[in-house]
Amino acid sequence: MHTFAVARAVRGIEPLVAMEIRRSHTGVVRGVRHREVWFEARPEADLLGLRTADDVLLAAAVVDGIGSGRSALLRLARAAREVDPRLMGAPGSGVEVSASFVGRRNYTRFEIEDAVGAELARPLRVPYHSRRDGRRPPAGARSWRVTIEDDQAVIAVRVAPRPLHRRAYKTASIRGTLHPPVAAAMAQLARLGGAGTVLDPCCGAGTTLIEARALASEGAGAARVRFLGFDHDPAAVTAATLNARAAAPGGQAAPGGQAAGAGATVAWAVADGGRVPVGDGCADRVLVNPPWGRQVPPAGLLSRGLAPLWREVRRVLAPGGLAVALVHDGIPRGFAVEEAVEVSLSGQHPLIAVLAPR
Ligand SMILES: C[S@@+](CC[C@H](N)C(=O)[O-])C[C@H]1O[C@@H](n2cnc3c(N)ncnc32)[C@H](O)[C@@H]1O
Repeated sequence: MHTFAVARAVRGIEPLVAMEIRRSHTGVVRGVRHREVWFEARPEADLLGLRTADDVLLAAAVVDGIGSGRSALLRLARAAREVDPRLMGAPGSGVEVSASFVGRRNYTRFEIEDAVGAELARPLRVPYHSRRDGRRPPAGARSWRVTIEDDQAVIAVRVAPRPLHRRAYKTASIRGTLHPPVAAAMAQLARLGGAGTVLDPCCGAGTTLIEARALASEGAGAARVRFLGFDHDPAAVTAATLNARAAAPGGQAAPGGQAAGAGATVAWAVADGGRVPVGDGCADRVLVNPPWGRQVPPAGLLSRGLAPLWREVRRVLAPGGLAVALVHDGIPRGFAVEEAVEVSLSGQHPLIAVLAPR
C-alpha cells in the first residue's frame, strides 16, 4: 500500500525537497505547493532520511471546500473522527495539534486545534494537550498538524517523535547557526559528485559540511572526500568538532539513522576567512554562510566588509569549482550565477546562490 505523505519545507526549497524525494527513491512526487511537497511514499521508504525537509507527515484526511465560516470547525471535527485508526499510533502521553492557515477566516488556529484534537484523543482514551496560552505539550505526545490553504484543509500526523529539522547531532550551537535543511539544500545544489575537497571558510557549528558529508556519503567515492571547516571564533570550531563527531558513523547521534560519510575526512581549525590557510585552487566546492548583520558580526579581516572573503573563495577554488553561498546583500563581484534560490528564513529572504568564478 502506498501512503500519501507531506514533506514540510522552508519557503523556496520545495523543488529541492521534491528532487531529494525522487533521487532517494523515497516516493513519487504528486504535487509541490507553498512550503509542502506531496508524495506517495514507497513501502519501506526511509521517510526520516530526508534531509532537505523540515518535517514529514502522513496525510490522514483531506477536506475540500472548507471555506472561511465557522462550519469549518464541525467539518474538521468530523474528518478527525473518521481518521484511519492505523494512523493513530501508540497512545503515548496524549495528542497535540498545531494548526495554520493562509487568508482571513472566522475561526482561530486554537479553535481548529481544539476541534480536531478532542476527536483524535477520544478513541485512544488519552488527553488532548491544547497549545492555548502558549502551553507546550508534554514529550511523547503524538503530533498532528492541520493546514488550510485556499479551500482545502489537510489533517496529518508527524512520522517522527520530533521535527526532522531538529538534528540529533546538533548538540553544540552558536548564534546564527544555519537551519540544517537549508544547509542540506546548499549541499544538494553543490553537485558534490566527484568533489575531492569541500571547504567552508566561516563554518560556525559545522552545519554545511556535516550535511554535505551526509549527502556525499550516498555517492560512489565518498570515502575520499575531504571536508575543511574554518572559523574566526574558537568556540564555533569547538561546536563544529563536537557536532561532526556526533553525526559521524558510530557517533551518538546520526540523524534519521543515516550513515554520515563513512571514511571521509573532516578537519576544523581557527582561521580568518580573509586569509584561508590552504593553497590556491585546492577546493572543488566552497559552501559558505558568511557572517552578516548584527546577529553574527563579521570579525577580523572581514570586519570592514566581505570583499576579502570572496577574494579568498575565488583563490581557493579549483578550475571548474563552484561556491554555494547564502547571500543577503546581493551577488558578490567576480562570480557568475549558475543558479539562485530565494529562501525565507527568520523573516529574511536571502539567496542560495551557486557561483562560478569569472
Ligand atoms: C552565519 S555564521 C555561520 C553559521 C554556520 N553555517 C552554522 O551552521 O553554524 C557566520 C560565522 O562566521 C564567523 N566569522 C565571523 N568573522 C569571520 C572571519 N573573519 N573569518 C572566519 N569566520 C568568521 C562567525 O564566527 C560565525 O561562526
